[in-house]
Amino acid sequence: MADKKTGILLLSHGSRLDDGEEVIKAYKEMYVEEFPDMPVEYGFMEIRKPGIPETIKKLTSENDLEKIIVVPVFVAHGLHTKRDIPGLLGIESDFDEEDCHGHHHHHHDHGHHHGHHHHHDEDEEEFEFDGEIVLTDPLGVDKRMYEIIKDRVSENL
Ligand code: NI
Repeated sequence: MADKKTGILLLSHGSRLDDGEEVIKAYKEMYVEEFPDMPVEYGFMEIRKPGIPETIKKLTSENDLEKIIVVPVFVAHGLHTKRDIPGLLGIESDFDEEDCHGHHHHHHDHGHHHGHHHHHDEDEEEFEFDGEIVLTDPLGVDKRMYEIIKDRVSENL
């Protein structure tokens, strides 16, 4: 085992198409290139494999970790980052169902149960990790993102 204490999980939503995996995989490779000693993997919240439990198992089986930093590569907070991902990670969430104002998460047709306090999906493996799991904020509002938005416009003017 490598003598590394902190691992990184770059988390993407998950899609049936390959595009999202190509993007998150490229970011992982960029990370590994810049920080070759840092254990880093990518995984998906739903729909696509590897999911959260198997990604954490991979990180912890290959490295002696005390901490895992999970970065949701999402633009903004939503039900997934506030409720579903903490549930899948088995960590505390300050999410309040009342904040939903009665709206339901129904943009997927895969019959996946987005459970509150569920540590894993019915069809997914569990993971065991005694260390600390930190879920970061999503990408959010950042001038670096704004530059990309402007590029997408300008290259089509
Ligand atoms: Ni979703």
